[in-house]
This record gives sequence, structure tokens and C-alpha cells, in this order.
Amino acid sequence: MSAQTTPHLIRGRILTFLENPFQQNAASAYRFYEDGALLIANGKIADIGSFDDVKARIGADVAVTDHRPHLIMPGFIDTHLHFPQTQAIASYGAQLLEWLNTYVFVEEQKFENAAHADFIAGRFLDELIRNGTTTAVAYCSVHKQSAQSMFAAARQRNMLMVGGKVMMDRNAPEALRDTPQSGYDDSKALIEAWHKPDQRNYYAISPRFAITSTPEQLEMSKALVQEFPDCYVQTHLSENHDEIAFATSLYPSAQHYIDIYAHYELLTPKTILGHCIHMCDREVSLMAERGAVAAFCPTSNLFLGSGLFDHDRFAKLGARISVATDVGGGSSFSMLETMSEAYKIMALQGQKLSPLQSYYMLTLGNARALGLQDKIGSLHVGADADIVVLDARAKPAMDLRMDVAETLEDELFILQTMGDDRCVREVYIAGKAMKSAL
Ligand code: GUN
Ligand code: ZN
Repeated sequence: MSAQTTPHLIRGRILTFLENPFQQNAASAYRFYEDGALLIANGKIADIGSFDDVKARIGADVAVTDHRPHLIMPGFIDTHLHFPQTQAIASYGAQLLEWLNTYVFVEEQKFENAAHADFIAGRFLDELIRNGTTTAVAYCSVHKQSAQSMFAAARQRNMLMVGGKVMMDRNAPEALRDTPQSGYDDSKALIEAWHKPDQRNYYAISPRFAITSTPEQLEMSKALVQEFPDCYVQTHLSENHDEIAFATSLYPSAQHYIDIYAHYELLTPKTILGHCIHMCDREVSLMAERGAVAAFCPTSNLFLGSGLFDHDRFAKLGARISVATDVGGGSSFSMLETMSEAYKIMALQGQKLSPLQSYYMLTLGNARALGLQDKIGSLHVGADADIVVLDARAKPAMDLRMDVAETLEDELFILQTMGDDRCVREVYIAGKAMKSAL
């Protein structure tokens, strides 16, 4: 394990959330220290406060990394993306089903090759780090090897990652199909080998979506969920009109798409459903009732022309919401760019996303969506030291805009609207500086 053991202090302008600014007075939802410090020891946060207070509490000499005037926040969390699509980003001119067949199912076949899977897994995680993302929930390809590559690369970096091999036994090229039995066996073997929360690896049982799984495979997915209730579940739901028509034609007893997953008991508080765009109130309410989480994927939903996620309806009906890139349907690894597009999608529907709400979603909100808020997503004593350092003046145009910014909210909004990986000055994973070492 690569956690730095010598205690050290990280100094800067610290922002962390305590509560959801959607639900209560925004000012009491966060803590901000203009000159703050985090004491890092054994990969965890041992103290937080104003620099003077933390320094006084230590009472001894300790190494200090001074990041002022930059902002220090919990590392960003991405709840839905596809690691084998790292080289499929920016594939031109198709909506979901055609895009899958033309580009994605071709690209994912390369992951049968272990050397390729290892290479892309490393590059993928480095790209997450470059963008300030310290935890992600990743689909792997159908190949068992691809999940092994992803988890091994995560362990090398001591990164808290969630993921799983996709199961798909129809409507995909022969080379990408498993069977209900082999999908079950491979997933089970991967869970036994890699679902190790104490080593920051979590498995997600991953039937890709109803179109690529037969009823027999969803039955096997149900068996896995019952056998391994600690694991996550991830799949896709109601992203695109043609997809919905095809999925419901394959499961004629389902009135709505979500009924397919409900029937196989795949809707749980550990389930993350990608997209959730074209849904009626009954479907959203069913998600709320079961505690399943929607992954709002703004850049993907625009890039593939899928539609506009109705954030406020989900919030009103009490359904859980997270945010994600959905690389490679998503066009950027950056959670800053993702929130910039989230803001615009909400604006198109007359909805508002305040800067504080955005950064809550990227950190504590997504951690809560994963039930990992004790470990990640906020800077509190005992939390894992996964931290991002952000520079709102990283580009000339941002620098100029920042000259007239007046508040913390202005700065956050400029970072989100104009920023990208160039604004991420440093990333700590379990207390270790990672971006500067890339
Ligand atoms: N639905 C099923 N598979 C995928 C995928 O890889 N990307 C997206 N955006 N939607 C999907
Ligand atoms: Zn996806």
C-alpha cells in the first residue's frame, strides 16, 4: 500500500460539504476555511481546521505543502463510465444503438487481449487522476480479464474504485457474448478475488442493459445480487427512445422499461441506473421507493442526442441522483465540464443548479449515492485523504474573469464553466500526491 505514513499538512483554501444545499440553507451546508489545513496521517485525514488551529494542535514540526491561493476539496467522484471506451470518445454521428454497434462493440473486442486491457486500464486511471476524479464506478468489457486489469491498476494507485465486467448474452457480436452461466461464474470469481473494501476495491454486478441480456441472464444477475448483497449493481435505463422500444419488445410483460429490472429484483439501494431520461412519474417513484440511484450523464446525453435528464422531477419525487461522465458516450473525463453541461441541461428545462449544489453533487452527493460518505466525498477526521486542489486562474480567460469575481460561489462557477483538467493542480489519493507524479 502506498499511503504516505509520515504525517504532513496540506494548506490552502478548504471547502467541504456537511449537508445537501438542495435541502437546506446553503450557508450551513458547507465549511470553508480561507486559510485552512488538513493533517494527513496514514492515508487519512487526522485533523481539519484553520491553519493556525491545526498547527497549534499538533504542537510539533510537521512538513507543510502550501497550496494557497488554490481551493482544496474532496476528490471528485464519477458514478458511471466505461473504461474500455477510453479510445472511443468522440466517435462521430450516431445515436445510442447505432453508436454501440458501429464503435463501442468494435472497440470493446480489443479487451480480449490482456496486454491491451492492462495498458488502457493504467491510462484510464491516470486520466481520472489528471481530472481530479479519485473514485469512479466503471463498466469493464465482457472479458473477465478487463475487470482484473482495472482492479489491479486501481490497487497499484491505491484508488477507491467500483467496477465489474459487463454481462451480455445477446444483441452483441459473438466475440462479446457470454452466457448466463459463464457470466455468473466469471462475475462470482471476480467478486471473490476483487471485492475487497479494505483494499479500496468494490465489485459492481453489471448486466449491461435489458437489450443485451436474456431473461435467463437477468435471472442469474438476480442470483448474484442475492448471493453478494454487499456488491453494487449497475445497468442502463431509459436513455433513448429506440432503446426503450427495443427493450420493452424483448420483455413484453413489462409495462415500462424499469419493470424489467424490478421483476429481477435488481432495484436496490446499491443499484446505479445510467441515464434515466425518458421516464414517467410511476417509474421515478418506483426508483425512490427502492432507493436505486440515477446517474445523470450530461455530456453523454447531449453528445448522443439522448435527451434532457429531469433533475427536479427526480428530486421532487424523492429519487436519488448522482452525476457521471459516461465516458465514452460522455465527451470528457472532467467532472468540471460535466457540471457545466449539467447546468445547461437544467437551464434548458427552466431549472437552476447553484455552484454550491454542483460541488456538493461532485463530492458528498456522489459519495452518499454510493453509501461511502464515511470514507470519501468530504474532508472530515477519519476520512480517506482523497483530495483535489483547484486553480480558478489556470487559463488566461479564467484569470481575466477571476479578476472581477467577488464570492466563493463566483469562483466555483467560473471553475465549472470555464475549467478542465488544467485547473487541477494536484490530486492526493490516500494522502499521496498523484497528479504531480504522472
Ligand atoms: N447502454 C448500454 N451500453 C451502453 C454504453 O456503453 N454507453 C451508453 N451511453 N449507453 C449504453
Ligand atoms: Zn454507460
